[in-house]
Amino acid sequence: MTTVQDSPTAAGSGANASSNFKSAERSGPDVSPERVSAVVTAVLQGVHAAIRQHGVTYPEFQAAKAWLMEVGEVGEWPLFMDVFVEHVVEEVAADQQQGTKGSILGPYYLPDQVRLSSPCELPHRADEKGEPLGLSGQVRDVDGTPLAGADVDIWHADADGYYSGFAPDIPLGNLRGVVTTDAEGNFEIRTVQPAPYQIPTDGPTGKLIEAAGWHPWRPAHLHLMVRADGHRTITTQLYFAGGEWLDSDVAEATKPELVLDPVDDGSGVRRASYDFELEQG
Ligand code: DHB
Ligand code: FE
Repeated sequence: MTTVQDSPTAAGSGANASSNFKSAERSGPDVSPERVSAVVTAVLQGVHAAIRQHGVTYPEFQAAKAWLMEVGEVGEWPLFMDVFVEHVVEEVAADQQQGTKGSILGPYYLPDQVRLSSPCELPHRADEKGEPLGLSGQVRDVDGTPLAGADVDIWHADADGYYSGFAPDIPLGNLRGVVTTDAEGNFEIRTVQPAPYQIPTDGPTGKLIEAAGWHPWRPAHLHLMVRADGHRTITTQLYFAGGEWLDSDVAEATKPELVLDPVDDGSGVRRASYDFELEQG
């Protein structure tokens, strides 16, 4: 893991998100000159149209350049792209997909977290804040066959809305784990209720949000990546019924099919269940 712990600022989490993104192994797409030209031309035409439509001035143009430079300098491009752009990429990908609905990956995924066998509890601090939460369910293929030995890779913010690996003073691996399904494809995970997430307001993305009069919040959510051999990996998020910002997610990444409604089991643990259906291939 190459993630470093920095200061409790946008620059800190942005720099961590940038270094994490750069160090992840990925193969570049095979893109023809025609496709590069078509997509980049369309992007530039959109920018040109906005300038003409709104009569953008030289001072505004220079302020935009300064802002773009600052986003790069403090490493906020992963945050900005995942909040404002990724949901449309996911929407286009989802058109071709069956099975459980996906949602955006976001900038805070870390691979190779501790492997746990179900039932289990996610790693947490001795004094971890937050209401106990239980998530159970089954992983199966789209024909209903249970998938034993599937990976339910889960990560989420703590009760203050911060992610381990991207905020100071949270142990690496906190509230993250890769849970293996049992022989019936079932999993059962104990954790704590995450808080809503706020885009860091002290960096350039936060300044833009403030300048535009928007709000910087995402509703509380769990991130999941569900993998099984021979099946398409599902990257998704689960939200909470009645949760604040559910209807105005700044990242526009909620879907009605992805909302949990946990119920207290009488012992103070709020439990929800969710089944994942993976398509073959
Ligand atoms: C961002 C943060 C998240 O936790 C998330 O799920 C999506 C996007 C962000 O700051 O870009
Ligand atoms: Fe998130």
